[in-house]
Amino acid sequence: MALVRQLYSGTDFRRALSIEELRAVARRRTPHFAFEYVECGSEDEVTLRHNRSVFESIRFIPDTLVDTSNRHQRTTLFGREMSTPLIIAPTALNGMQRYRGDIALARAAAAIGIPFTLSTFSNVRLEDVQTGAGGRLWMQLYLMKDRTIARDIIRRAAGAGYEALVLTSDANVFGFREWDRRNYRQPGDLTLRNILDVACHPRWILDVLFPHGVPRFENVVDFLPPEARSARAGVAYLPGLLAPDITWEDIRWLRTEWSGKLILKGVLNAADAKQAADLGCDGIVLSNHGGRQLDGSVSPMDVLPEIARAAGDRLAIIVDSGFRRGTDVIKAIALGAHAVMVGSATLYGLAAGGEAGVRHALGILSGEVDRVLGQLGCNSLRELGPHLLR
Ligand SMILES: Cc1cc2nc3c(=O)[nH]c(=O)nc-3n(C[C@H](O)[C@H](O)[C@H](O)COP(=O)(O)O)c2cc1C
Repeated sequence: MALVRQLYSGTDFRRALSIEELRAVARRRTPHFAFEYVECGSEDEVTLRHNRSVFESIRFIPDTLVDTSNRHQRTTLFGREMSTPLIIAPTALNGMQRYRGDIALARAAAAIGIPFTLSTFSNVRLEDVQTGAGGRLWMQLYLMKDRTIARDIIRRAAGAGYEALVLTSDANVFGFREWDRRNYRQPGDLTLRNILDVACHPRWILDVLFPHGVPRFENVVDFLPPEARSARAGVAYLPGLLAPDITWEDIRWLRTEWSGKLILKGVLNAADAKQAADLGCDGIVLSNHGGRQLDGSVSPMDVLPEIARAAGDRLAIIVDSGFRRGTDVIKAIALGAHAVMVGSATLYGLAAGGEAGVRHALGILSGEVDRVLGQLGCNSLRELGPHLLR
């Protein structure tokens, strides 16, 4: 009898050996519309696919016969140690994967000693993430037409001891994720087919919807008109609040308002990286928003070497979009990144197993990083470089 290769087909996240397998568990546990929200890219998903295929075009040339028995993957970012070069990326609506998903993600990050970034559009207030999880917290900021919302978030994040403010610059003209949109008759209003699919996920309903109902955009809810405060209405309302007129002037302004670390997320060229450094940013995230914004854009991996050359000595260079393996992380560090943000990988863990599932995801990735370091003949991240790649 010929045996067919197949991923684990159950719902126990602990059985997942890779992020791809964790994704399969997440898919089974989550209603289609909530899984698709994480999964899909914009328009034809060209960038989404390229974010993965770019890693296959980079190969390793390992050193052999090196004693790597004392290898480690610790690193420092902004003068503070991290157990592994990973950061959890800001993602909106984490409460649709698990009840108070933001706290689960932050707790898992704190447990292994890496930063967690909270989205402006989170389902838990930033103060509650601080009290519920602690650890090293970064606050992501979307600038809206009404800048008093940003002022409020900045003041509160400073009060709650957030280490960094991460301004996202690539989503103020909102990407159109057609596969996400197809699950709704109109924004916020699921199709009948999707409503029936939700009914087939009683465990998800019990965890996410009972007894509090659909999670709200807690960080900004006070600024929404009463009719837009529910998550259903908010989904349709919030993109219209984003300011399409953000410019470098806003970086100048934020630099005066925020005394912590300032990070610009959404940079994809060297001129912008230099400008960010000139205006006092402490770091940048090279990102195409996980393929969710401009379809057809380059992967951060395509431009990482030139940006690292241009600004790597003045800025922390963080990279995201498409990272699913330790090999991906190692390739980015070898090309000049200081750390890697993961969005979907830890969300699969969250959907599959809550906080323990996120820890499992981080364990898979850091286990792979450790193995790759050893197989390359390296004892630390410092020894990585382009000489190990082709
Ligand atoms: C479900 C989801 C929601 C996201 N929401 C935000 C957000 O609120 N703010 C933001 O700056 N980026 C957001 N992003 C982009 C991530 O911060 C990150 O750039 C992206 O997930 C990296 O790609 P990856 O998912 O392949 O790891 C979101 C991504 C996903 C998957």
